[in-house]
Amino acid sequence: MGKVFICDHPLIQHKLTFIRDETTNTKDFRELVDEVATLMAYEITRDIPLEKTTVKTPVSEAECQIISGRMLGLIPILRAGLGMVDGVLKLIPAAKVGHIGLYRDPETLQPVEYYVKLPTDVTERELIVIDPMLATGGSAIAAIDVLKKRNCTQIKMMNLIASPEGIRAVQEAHPDVDIYVAAIDTYLNEHGYIVPGLGDAGDRLFGTK
Ligand code: URA
Repeated sequence: MGKVFICDHPLIQHKLTFIRDETTNTKDFRELVDEVATLMAYEITRDIPLEKTTVKTPVSEAECQIISGRMLGLIPILRAGLGMVDGVLKLIPAAKVGHIGLYRDPETLQPVEYYVKLPTDVTERELIVIDPMLATGGSAIAAIDVLKKRNCTQIKMMNLIASPEGIRAVQEAHPDVDIYVAAIDTYLNEHGYIVPGLGDAGDRLFGTK
């Protein structure tokens, strides 16, 4: 079963309060989401492997460590996932970015891919699927399906806010995927919104409402 990590650093929780607040304007919302994404990137990269190296300081030789192992890939789910990409890139500037766009078929209610563009070496990378809201889990599961269909194996999920239903759904469909969230809220309402949540993340990021 995939683990769930709650990123409960005080700075993340403080900023999340203002992200939730309905009076926060588009500019501040966008900046706060960006800042929280940077802080969450710090948590999500906590377990990446290091290897030994030496450098010469002006004084002597120093035994040091550098990051080893797989390079990272960021996979935002369009469109709201875009709001967290730059924040993560501030800490991991060499990461490549792939995009996955999905819509819900109005008849089957199943997510359908409308845009997939991934780095050519995606299978060799450790991937972070990014979406601010993990609501039903439908898009997250479908995005991870897209990656696994293309033989990707090391996948983590990053969300600002998750519902218990969404977490359960992802854990059942993809038990190998760990989930990093800033908060787990109470429930999903009949319109598919997380309660208390923050409203529609895409609309609030892009000022479309
Ligand atoms: N997507 C959002 O943007 N907000 C929710 O509460 C649920 C899904």
